Amino acid sequence: MSLQPETITSNPIPQTESFTGEVYTMSSVLKISNLHVRVEETPILNGVNLEIHPGEIHALMGPNGSGKSTLAYALIGHPKYEITEGSIEIDGVDLNDLDACERSRLGLFLAFQYPVTIPGVKVADFLRLAMTNVRNPNRKEGESLMPMREFRTELRETMQQLNMDPEFARRYLNEGFSGGEKKRMEILQMALLKPKFAILDETDSGLDSDAVRVVSEGLSKLAGPEMGVLIITHHERLLEYNEPQFTHVMLGGKIVETGDASLAHDLHANGYASVRERHPDDAARQRKAEPASA
Ligand SMILES: Nc1ncnc2c1ncn2[C@@H]1O[C@H](COP(=O)(O)OP(=O)(O)OP(=O)(O)O)[C@@H](O)[C@H]1O
Ligand SMILES: [Mg+2]
Repeated sequence: MSLQPETITSNPIPQTESFTGEVYTMSSVLKISNLHVRVEETPILNGVNLEIHPGEIHALMGPNGSGKSTLAYALIGHPKYEITEGSIEIDGVDLNDLDACERSRLGLFLAFQYPVTIPGVKVADFLRLAMTNVRNPNRKEGESLMPMREFRTELRETMQQLNMDPEFARRYLNEGFSGGEKKRMEILQMALLKPKFAILDETDSGLDSDAVRVVSEGLSKLAGPEMGVLIITHHERLLEYNEPQFTHVMLGGKIVETGDASLAHDLHANGYASVRERHPDDAARQRKAEPASA
């Protein structure tokens, strides 16, 4: 079913095809401008600027507490994270007034640093509902879900690719999952939802080396010309398989430097001392946010 432009004039969601998975062929952009974010009265982000286009891989690095997860939460619309200045836009649509579901329907996806457990909600039910809503953005509550046979086939094939036991689909979401299993579940969601912009918040942490390889290869297969990726990481393995065209360094709630893949290698090898030296004001703000012993 194709949506006619007239039917979506009161809806910010761009034209898509339902259930095909073949969405968003038009050129697209996730644009973060001068973003200031506050969490429970504490200002954390202090003017972040970043543009991501489909087909690009961006790495986001920075010391603990510099604001990387805060940026991820602000992007997906966590209600605790308040934008006090600046904007986040997808293709000119301001996300500020949209909730996480609406943002997801616009093609945004966040793989959490700390995925939550949802007892009582089976993985398969959750995925079928999420896939239906993302692929058919104008679906109303109670309307039919994507066909079971189509869903099962896609789920089985994708789990196979990610070396996941099909048994996981019958379990409650993340309940009793190991740290590594939770991270794989995030990648499974990403593979099925096929977002236009994916943010991976330390998806490689807590994984054993085999799992890092599976996730890295899985991501590199998915991250084609249709998807823009922001990889938040302290490690190098994920970036070995998914070489970033851009590496950004966050310090004190701001992106203070942007370079290519060699910047990521340099930071891994040498740490953040030279970045702090080059940006003393941001380093001072960062220090205030760090525990006294750090
Ligand atoms: N609810 C909150 N109240 C007060 N401060 C908060 C809150 N949530 C986060 N912060 C602070 O915001 C800062 C940025 O945290 P954030 O989780 O974004 O860092 P990060 O760059 O993702 O770090 P890491 O590399 O350790 O994951 C930290 O100093 C943190 O303590
Ligand atoms: Mg974090």
